[in-house]
Amino acid sequence: MNRDRKLMRVLAGETVTPPPIWLMRQAGRYLPEYRRTRAQANGFLDLCYTPDLAVEVTLQPIRRYGFDAAILFSDILVIPDAIGRNVRFVEGEGPRLDPISAEEVMKLGVTDILPHLAPVLETVKRLRTELPAETTLLGFCGAPWTIATYMIAGRGTPDQAPARLFALRHPEAFAHLIEVIADLSAAYLAAQVEAGADAVQIFDSWAGVLGEVEFDLYSVRPMRRIVDKLRAGHPDAKVIGFAKGAGALLEDYRARTGVDCVGLDWTVPRALARRIQEGGAVQGNLDPLRVVAGGTALDEGVDRVLGDLGDGPLIFNLGHGITPEADPASVTRLVERVRAWRR
Ligand code: CP3
Repeated sequence: MNRDRKLMRVLAGETVTPPPIWLMRQAGRYLPEYRRTRAQANGFLDLCYTPDLAVEVTLQPIRRYGFDAAILFSDILVIPDAIGRNVRFVEGEGPRLDPISAEEVMKLGVTDILPHLAPVLETVKRLRTELPAETTLLGFCGAPWTIATYMIAGRGTPDQAPARLFALRHPEAFAHLIEVIADLSAAYLAAQVEAGADAVQIFDSWAGVLGEVEFDLYSVRPMRRIVDKLRAGHPDAKVIGFAKGAGALLEDYRARTGVDCVGLDWTVPRALARRIQEGGAVQGNLDPLRVVAGGTALDEGVDRVLGDLGDGPLIFNLGHGITPEADPASVTRLVERVRAWRR
């Protein structure tokens, strides 16, 4: 392990004061420099698949704020794109895919998607050479459940009813879909680690709409499958698992999935967050709207996260991605406040 990379020390269970900080979606539309680079690309996926541009937007928030980690610029939907699900990003509307049927799901197999994703892996390689030595490079992918919700509905929905209904009506096909995505994801993450990612995060952004039984079947077990497959080839690979909205089901998430760090959204109560932290690193969990509000609402939120979780292994982050409405100056204020803690 590179001990200069504070975030890696926290992933190993150390308490670092002040805690290392990065923000989910730190490269994005709230930054004017992102919007300028985005305008040069031929659409969002072209931005993800053009290493020159993807490296540039990954580095933008590092230059501006000096975050402790850079996260590869890409999207969770490059996996369905790589297997030919016709992924599009419609300006102002979000992602669109061809909704998959149960018959089509049964024809899916685990194919080699790495040739299609070669430009993303090239981006990882270049990033590791261009980043400062003390900056952790994070790779990522979406969790099978969250990716499946978009593949089935063909778009984002408020409660993922289409995917939940599909799982109830076609349990066999659904289990197959989850397994295929898990195996594709494990191969993709292994390739990111080989290209130079120090650690990876798996985003289960839609875990919160699952009941206890479905959470076990479609979130916990596939997460465990990915972690085990990744570690079969890379025993030291570090993984952050972010199951947004999972609430009380996070209690034993680390033990059940094998992740090194448990991501916490802003609704996780302090007592639960602290119990989870007794087992190792946690990441989070400032409400992203506090960055939009700024001022004392931001300061109080920062102080509360540090007060609640700063005495243990913590990666300071938001409880979900930063939104386009955030003022870049508020992010400066946030970073300065975290870095000044107990100094
Ligand atoms: O800076 C980073 O965090 C790295 C890049 C990153 C993006 N998407 C870029 C992006 C990461 C890690 C993601 C993950 C992602 N993508 C998730 C999981 C995390 C989360 O926020 O819940 C999900 C569910 C997606 C799918 C996705 N991609 C949606 C629903 C949307 C549209 C909504 C939106 O925020 O615009 C995207 C598009 C997207 N992905 C953008 C960015 C910067 C905006 C596209 C644009 O520039 O027009």
